[in-house]
Amino acid sequence: MAIFRAPRGVQDILPQSAPVWVQLQSTARAICERYGFAFIETPIFEEAALFVRGVGAETDIVQKEMYTFEDRGGVQLTLRPEFTAGIMRAYIEHGMHTWPQPVKLYSLGPAFRYERPQAGRFRQFHQFNIEAIGEQDPLIDAEVILLMWRYLQELGFDRLSLQLNSIGCPACRPPYVEALKSYYSGLRTSLCSDCQERLHRNPLRLLDCKAASCQALLQEAPRSVDFLCPSCAGHFQELRLLLEAAELPYELNPRLVRGLDYYTKTVFEIWAEGIGAQNAVCGGGRYDGLAEALGFRSTPGVGAAAGLERLLMLLQGHGQAERPSAALAVFIPLAGPARPLSLKLAEELRLAGLPAQCTYGDRSLKAQLKSADRLGAQYAIILGEDELAHGQATVRCLGRSEQVQVPLARLVDWLKEQAAVPAGERAVQ
Ligand code: HAM
Repeated sequence: MAIFRAPRGVQDILPQSAPVWVQLQSTARAICERYGFAFIETPIFEEAALFVRGVGAETDIVQKEMYTFEDRGGVQLTLRPEFTAGIMRAYIEHGMHTWPQPVKLYSLGPAFRYERPQAGRFRQFHQFNIEAIGEQDPLIDAEVILLMWRYLQELGFDRLSLQLNSIGCPACRPPYVEALKSYYSGLRTSLCSDCQERLHRNPLRLLDCKAASCQALLQEAPRSVDFLCPSCAGHFQELRLLLEAAELPYELNPRLVRGLDYYTKTVFEIWAEGIGAQNAVCGGGRYDGLAEALGFRSTPGVGAAAGLERLLMLLQGHGQAERPSAALAVFIPLAGPARPLSLKLAEELRLAGLPAQCTYGDRSLKAQLKSADRLGAQYAIILGEDELAHGQATVRCLGRSEQVQVPLARLVDWLKEQAAVPAGERAVQ
């Protein structure tokens, strides 16, 4: 029988990656605390219609990438392809508009898109997502961008680039889209087949087509910033001033349009070097029309999400992965009665906050010492018949051939004392 493998496009985060994985999450939590974002957990699946209305029926996500299924009650459900629509749904459902505004929320968890898997692009991936709902001041746009920038800096990234654009609002976008259409209509035959299709469905998406034929036409394409209405232009101008005041360098990128339809005004991405085409580690923007698209009153919002797998790849690529913390002591019970004693002593150490493990099964001392060594333990505690008869444990310092006898009654305290002493000054080194 063939062995099972994880489905295409999904991956296990193995223990050797766990320290960095945990760090990605704990740094996110710590930074959100500082910027006043509270944690929210929303369901992994939502009604399919939420994403169709929220993310946009014409987006690649809704057209091609959603994991949608009918449950046993006949309801169409979708594994969330992103967090923003679900969080806006929760904002509306729980009357958060009556809370002090803006409501600032963060989440950490998996998202699902049926994409073509490649380096840095998966079908299940994890996001650190932030949203600030209920405020239109560009100061909050600046804070959202700063929070993500600091997050990446704190993780150790230094070659980052902030790509910034404004794509306007329902007042100024239509004339811009018309200008794009008329520019590309004349060049129709030079477009890739996907873009010929996009020209009708979603002309903005022509700007981030990666096909060489389409890239060549970008240079002369109209730019959204040249079409902004006074309100959008003022918002963008002030955001830029705020970012400059915060000394956050940005690059104006007139081609940045993003793949979700809810964006208005500000859009941005943070790019990091080292993962090829999928170099966007974070993306976000303002979505002042989303609440209305979901049937609620007009409510502004701005947010962003960072992809944790991409960050993990980059950090591991830079050799910053840590080893899991090693055990202080590994207990090796050689005689039957030593087994419950080992368990009891290891448990006492763990309750005192110290890492301790036991070896298992009926194997030779040599094999068990090897296991202890592999666990990175500092001390192997050998408990055989002789040791029990004399009320003593043989404590061997791994990596050296030194050992001492320690009375069983004192063993836990002795190990605690060793743990508190700097490595070079320990009794057995
Ligand atoms: P997004 O740009 O689609 O935005 O995704 C944000 C980040 O998630 C990307 O920059 C990338 O790091 C990661 N990501 C996206 N798709 C994949 C994938 N298939 N495999 C691995 N990583 C991926 C959003 O999702 C918006 N909801 C962000 C937002 C929040 N805008 C406003 N609020």
